[in-house]
Amino acid sequence: MTELTPAYRVRRIEPGEWRELRALRLEALRDAPTAFSITYAASEALPDDAWRAQAAEAATGASTALFVAVGPDGSWLGTAGAAPIPDVPDHAHVHGVYVTPAHRGRSGPAADLVAAAVAFARTHIDVGHLTLGVHESNARAQAFYLRVGFVPTGLEVPYPLDPAERLRILGYPGFRDRAAARPTDTS
Ligand SMILES: CC(C)(COP(=O)(O)OP(=O)(O)OC[C@H]1O[C@@H](n2cnc3c(N)ncnc32)[C@H](O)[C@@H]1OP(=O)(O)O)[C@@H](O)C(=O)NCCC(=O)NCCS
Repeated sequence: MTELTPAYRVRRIEPGEWRELRALRLEALRDAPTAFSITYAASEALPDDAWRAQAAEAATGASTALFVAVGPDGSWLGTAGAAPIPDVPDHAHVHGVYVTPAHRGRSGPAADLVAAAVAFARTHIDVGHLTLGVHESNARAQAFYLRVGFVPTGLEVPYPLDPAERLRILGYPGFRDRAAARPTDTS
């Protein structure tokens, strides 16, 4: 019987993978400039040590993590992360969600990446609420997030790079659903 090679594997990033992180982040900022709250120019100007520190924290942090989808040839296809939201008590967010254009669509890694980030948040971040912010014009990301279990909260906040634009805040209602967190626990 022929074994099918999986199209990708989702795993947490490793501490030394700052060059890969930098390359995919800069690609993401070129591809989707309003999808993140930092500019390409600001990211490109970061010194290598800043990328080293980001990768190390994403790889080893107790309550923050970044997951990567890796193709059969080792190439990075996308990322998603989870972390507490600074200054918003009892809330964590999913962030850094990006899939390289050739790997988008239902057979791509986007849903598995977000699932990995949600699972990490459930088990490692001691908060009651999981949310994310998505730019008002990003219809594809909004449709994707609704499909994987996020819902509109009705809240909007100014988009940090242009306060005239809005970020829609989506919530994840199943976040503290213990049955969903432990699907095999039948007791
Ligand atoms: C957001 C992202 C990770 C989603 O991954 P993806 O592989 O594109 O997601 P999918 O294709 O599985 O789902 C997207 C859905 O939006 C739909 N869609 C595509 N274009 C759309 C549009 N212009 N308007 C509305 N819906 C759209 C697709 O049909 C699909 O829905 P379906 O599965 O019900 O058919 C990916 O598009 C991406 O990396 N975008 C750039 C970065 C980004 O925006 N990140 C989010 C930051 S908050």
